[in-house]
Amino acid sequence: MKTKTVTSIILIFCVAASFSTDDQTRTQLPQANESFKPNQTLQQQLGSSCTYTVTIKTSCSSPSYTRDQISLAFGDTYGYQVYVPRLGDPYDSRTFERCSTDTFQIYGPCTYQICYLYLYRTGYDGWMPEYVTVSGYYSSPVTFYYNAFIPYGVWYGFDYCYRYSASTASA
Ligand SMILES: *[C@@H]1O[C@H](CO)[C@@H](O)[C@H](O)[C@H]1NC(C)=O
Ligand SMILES: *[C@@H]1O[C@H](CO)[C@@H](O)[C@H](O)[C@H]1NC(C)=O
Repeated sequence: MKTKTVTSIILIFCVAASFSTDDQTRTQLPQANESFKPNQTLQQQLGSSCTYTVTIKTSCSSPSYTRDQISLAFGDTYGYQVYVPRLGDPYDSRTFERCSTDTFQIYGPCTYQICYLYLYRTGYDGWMPEYVTVSGYYSSPVTFYYNAFIPYGVWYGFDYCYRYSASTASA
């Protein structure tokens, strides 16, 4: 009985993972990744020929606004990566206002399906995003649900790339 339940849960997980990235990401919590470092050399070499739309909803539990510096990095399982040192206009305090949604056009190297995303924050105001959605020419939209304060000075987010390697291995 118990084994059966576990098996069907695993089966459901596999089916869901192969069809919907969005639903699965809801269930996982963001994590600090001490070993993550964006590769700026790589970004310079690959150029910026692809456009991405990044939509960020700031939580209603966030401070009324933030002047913190927010960096963003995301990429695929093949090592292609996009790094944005600073999101938004540093002189525009309306960015990342509580309960607001900001949309950014990002130019960066082309990636395949985006499977990881990290945010980095420095400053004293603090900030809590609700979710971040990224879409690109070769990547269907993927949403990363945070609902958590971004800690100071550490890359904080999600890495789902193992799913892609796992499905390749079992194919
Ligand atoms: C942290 O980042 C490294 C480098 O990108 C990656 O290999 C590793 O899987 C990540 N760790 C976690 C827990 O996601
Ligand atoms: C960054 O990318 C370059 C070019 O592909 C590579 O030679 C270098 O080893 C990478 N650096 C890190 C820290 O991964």
